Amino acid sequence: MPTSVEAMQTNDTYNRGGMIAFVFSMVFSLVFFFYISLMHQGINLKEIPEEAMSGGSPSGEGAAAVAAVDISKIEKPWEPNDDMVTHGAKIYKANCTACHGDKGAGDGPAGMALIPPARNLIEGKWKKGGDSIALYKTLHDGIEGTSMAAFKHLPKQDRWALVQFIHSITKNKVADDAAKLEAFAKSAD
Ligand code: HEC
Repeated sequence: MPTSVEAMQTNDTYNRGGMIAFVFSMVFSLVFFFYISLMHQGINLKEIPEEAMSGGSPSGEGAAAVAAVDISKIEKPWEPNDDMVTHGAKIYKANCTACHGDKGAGDGPAGMALIPPARNLIEGKWKKGGDSIALYKTLHDGIEGTSMAAFKHLPKQDRWALVQFIHSITKNKVADDAAKLEAFAKSAD
């Protein structure tokens, strides 16, 4: 019984070409491994543009509208901010349109039959007041005896976004006293 080495030397029934290819690939792997682990500088992630990392983000016109706004880092969500308004519109759409209507005109399918009916948020006088503090309180407490429920379960940041959204659509915007608002906001839950 010949050993495998003898077999290789004495006849070619072993796949000699395959063996050579195998040895070459081993050598190549070793060299490649050596290069990657010891010589390659590595890739500096900071040098890759963010767009490439995220698989290409839309750019140019309309980009702002497409990209989701991140309001979590806004430290003073009660201060006028376009991103807050954009975010507020989204929260409004999910929670308020049924009663207050798509645009806030008080014509939502579920709102018109209520007694009292859902408010037109664009026009008309505020019952509880139209400055940021009053609107925030309305969302916090609801309006007793009406279908206007408390929306305290929404994250605080979302409720400030709603306040800013309402201010962006109403014709009866009541001006805020910045210092008073800040003091209120810091203690509000
Ligand atoms: C189930 C229906 C319903 C839903 C949903 C609803 N509301 Fe109301 N809302 C009402 C009704 C009814 C009133 C009017 C109460 C009144 O006239 O006393 C009202 C009143 C208001 C007012 C007026 C307060 C004032 O001072 O006049 C604001 C602001 C308001 N809603 C905001 C919202 C926002 C923001 C949402 C979504 C987060 C929302 N509402 C969801 C029914 C609803």
